[in-house]
Amino acid sequence: MACPSDWPEPIVRVQSLSEKCGGGGRIPERYVKPVESRPWWSDEEGEANIPVIDLAEEGDTIWRVAEACREWGFLQVVNHGVRAELMDAAQEVWWQFFQQPMEVKQAYANSPTTYEGYGSRLGVEKGAILDWSDYYYLHYLPCNLRDYNKWPSLPISLREVMDEYSREIVRLGGVLLKMLSISLGLRQDFLQNSFGGEDVGACLRVNYYPKCPQPDLTLGLSSHSDPGGMTFLLPDQNVPGLQVRRGDHWITVKPAPHAFIVNIGDQIQVLSNAIYKSVEHRVIVNSAQERISLAYFYNPKSDLLIQPAKELLEPDRPALYPAMTFDEYRLFIRTKGPKGKSQLGDLKSPT
Ligand code: OGA
Ligand code: NI
Repeated sequence: MACPSDWPEPIVRVQSLSEKCGGGGRIPERYVKPVESRPWWSDEEGEANIPVIDLAEEGDTIWRVAEACREWGFLQVVNHGVRAELMDAAQEVWWQFFQQPMEVKQAYANSPTTYEGYGSRLGVEKGAILDWSDYYYLHYLPCNLRDYNKWPSLPISLREVMDEYSREIVRLGGVLLKMLSISLGLRQDFLQNSFGGEDVGACLRVNYYPKCPQPDLTLGLSSHSDPGGMTFLLPDQNVPGLQVRRGDHWITVKPAPHAFIVNIGDQIQVLSNAIYKSVEHRVIVNSAQERISLAYFYNPKSDLLIQPAKELLEPDRPALYPAMTFDEYRLFIRTKGPKGKSQLGDLKSPT
């Protein structure tokens, strides 16, 4: 299975569509989801939210993180050590990027071989129903994949801001992996080593969700679980949109000020033999405000075998997943596009 080197059909920028449809228009058929996957706002779960955890607090922080990872697969962290001004600056440079004229952005148009650059679809299936969003994807680690020429050159501060931001995320990734290792009863460097020690992967997807005249018919990002290790999401502080699956419900996340939303990806579900869950989530759009989020993916080195930790296996709890590299795993998603959690289900060992 290989990824084709180009898109199966011409790319349409959702931002341009949004400007063309205007406030009262209709969205093209290609963005209309089947009835069963259209969004709805749940009333009864209106007050629920994913756990907010203060990382600077002494005491049982690790256990609260562990509980959130078991029960929700999601948490928000505050007092994480990343400066609020840096977080604001990171949001701001990407607002400025997406506000530039289309020709400027098109210079960074991406292809399905690496996905790096300015994109408007995931997956290469011809005729697929698409999501109501554009994005920008870039690599930070491993170093040999980092190519500043593929990062936008404007606004002028983008590269510097994102360099510092990226360093901070990698630091925070290390902190969280340590907490998760300890809480699983493993050596504190277990997960970091399984991810390749210093050679982890880190890449960013900046999601841009334009206004949508018919938000009830589509999704900004279809339901999916994140394929990598762990994700650090900087959500839009003003515009909600992220929904997390909780049984049969979708909980709309209410971001705490300057929090990161952290979620477990499929590779930690595999390594922890499903003690920690990578949970499905999706993004809804609205007709009044556009939205930007920065999703930083902290991943295992891509050619290492990832498999359930031997230390966590018991006679009545055998390995649920076969060993596989992240490279192999990622190809599933890159060819098929977001499809809920189907890929982990498909991989489940038959036992
Ligand atoms: C993602 C993601 C959520 C959001 O990029 O994988 O889930 O709020 N983003 O944009
Ligand atoms: Ni995601």
